[in-house]
Amino acid sequence: MSISAILTGTGRSVPEKVLTNADLEKIVDTSDEWITTRTGIKERRIAAEHETLSTFASEAGRQALEAAGVAPEDVGLLVLATVTPDMPIPATACKIQEDLGCVNACAFDLAAGCSGFIYAQSVAKQFLLSGRCQHALVIGAELLSKYVDWTDRSTCVIFADGAGAVLLSAGSPPRGVLASAMHSDGSMVDFISMPGGGTLHPPSQKMIDERLHFIKMKGNETFKMAVRSIDEVCREVLDQAGLTPADVDWFIPHQANERIISAVGKRLGMNDDRCYINIDRYGNTSSGSIPIALDEVVREGKIKEGQIVLMAAFGAGLTWAASVARW
Ligand code: UT7
Repeated sequence: MSISAILTGTGRSVPEKVLTNADLEKIVDTSDEWITTRTGIKERRIAAEHETLSTFASEAGRQALEAAGVAPEDVGLLVLATVTPDMPIPATACKIQEDLGCVNACAFDLAAGCSGFIYAQSVAKQFLLSGRCQHALVIGAELLSKYVDWTDRSTCVIFADGAGAVLLSAGSPPRGVLASAMHSDGSMVDFISMPGGGTLHPPSQKMIDERLHFIKMKGNETFKMAVRSIDEVCREVLDQAGLTPADVDWFIPHQANERIISAVGKRLGMNDDRCYINIDRYGNTSSGSIPIALDEVVREGKIKEGQIVLMAAFGAGLTWAASVARW
């Protein structure tokens, strides 16, 4: 009998502190009007000084387990998609394992920029399909506010903090992840990067003075690549699953920019109520954005069993990925 990877539980956790566009007007030379029309963002959540990535990632994971009714010790794999871990060593996934009591899981972090959640979901799916485990906890989480240059108006108004999680469980078709695809193109590594802090520019006073420990983004170039790539990878997974955009009940795109989402939606003919947007409230939370949005839709009771859910993302690397699931 064939096995499928079913999304059995979701969760989300975001910081309490809200930073509005009006707040940002006091920090950099920007305006609510510019941010709203260029990005769709009205406010975002920002972690407090004492809060770390695992504060939110663990809570999101706990909620996903609870929603699925699965005990922590039954989780065989814990993957955390992030580029903003608690520490460079060890993997933050191990801290989350300890927080949640997933004592039988192998745990590791996965870095694929904003595509991280879909990448992690695809890896988890393979673990389940190969019979390696019964339950896999996939968390997408970022605290980008800790890496943002608060003097750079082109990035600090966009990036934000938050965590979402999904439990994938082995089950039987027709439910489950029907198809997924992942792509990378390293020729554009400098489109979105944080050059300092690794082996290229190890921590030093010079590295800090040159502000290499902050995120840099070629926004406009990235924007153009994003629209084309998300459109293509969505068609690829729908084709693989024998579906068309007309079959999709929910489109949950990465929340990078409302203009990207509506341009992709237009190309796919899904620029309507099926296309979920919450960037106005959360900004761009990178790996966190899809699982946060998914959890909102699920907890509002909008997704019904049997419905088709399309998820797609694009980010640093460059990387892009999509998956389509029957709920
Ligand atoms: O999630 C991972 C993937 N990331 C993305 O997909 C992000 C993709 N890119 C974007 O979302 C957009 O490119 C941005 C929102 C980052 C920027 O929007 P844009 O329409 O591409 O603006 P731009 O970078 O071409 O800049 C246009 C102007 C510039 O001024 P000049 O040179 O025309 O005078 C910028 O300096 O807007 C200026 N600008 C701002 N003005 C007010 C840039 N940031 C701001 C700001 N407030 N916050």
